[in-house]
Amino acid sequence: MTELALHILDIVQNSIRAKARKIEVTIMENPEDDLFVIKIQDDGLGMDETQLQLVTDPFFTTRTTRKVGMGIALLKQCAEQTGGSLKVNSQKGAGTILEAILKHRHVDRPILGDIAGTMTLLIGANPLIRFIYIHQTPLSSFELDTLEVLEELDDVPINDRDILKALEEMINENLEMIEASLK
Ligand SMILES: Nc1ncnc2c1ncn2[C@@H]1O[C@H](COP(=O)(O)OP(=O)(O)OP(=O)(O)O)[C@@H](O)[C@H]1O
Ligand SMILES: [Mg+2]
Repeated sequence: MTELALHILDIVQNSIRAKARKIEVTIMENPEDDLFVIKIQDDGLGMDETQLQLVTDPFFTTRTTRKVGMGIALLKQCAEQTGGSLKVNSQKGAGTILEAILKHRHVDRPILGDIAGTMTLLIGANPLIRFIYIHQTPLSSFELDTLEVLEELDDVPINDRDILKALEEMINENLEMIEASLK
């Protein structure tokens, strides 16, 4: 995949399918230490030991519509291509944490891409899920929590078109500042 945002979209779909009520997406960038970390944490159904051991295997899926699950295996391959790694921690009934570590400066590291569009797409399609987006660098950090947004909105639904548009713009503006701080 050409954009990490597309991998993130894919991984978050797993959390949604696992009935998560709260999904946290964290990006940690540190070019000096050559690190680009993506962490996705949910409070969904979780996996038992056996499932967990199989999860980075492209032939494991609990889907019934097709036999091969790809989302996690693809991101793992992507991370490893940059000299990084991927790990998944999960507990049945408690939730799942996935962490992909990529090398920031590696030529094969895809760009982050349209994460603002991805997050607002997810928020708009899943208004009952609390999404938290955190983006950190050594010099700056940005956090969006849809619960906090909702508290400010009184009665306007979070999937209102104008609200989603404003959220997308807000994420993009903050990302521009974050990227500028890295230069
Ligand atoms: N956050 C999660 N919570 C609970 N189970 C999960 C989670 N993420 C993955 N799984 C389990 O791991 C399996 C493999 O996930 P993966 O994303 O690699 O493939 P998939 O979702 O089955 O298919 P695809 O991503 O190609 O649509 C899933 O079918 C699901 O059983
Ligand atoms: Mg998947």
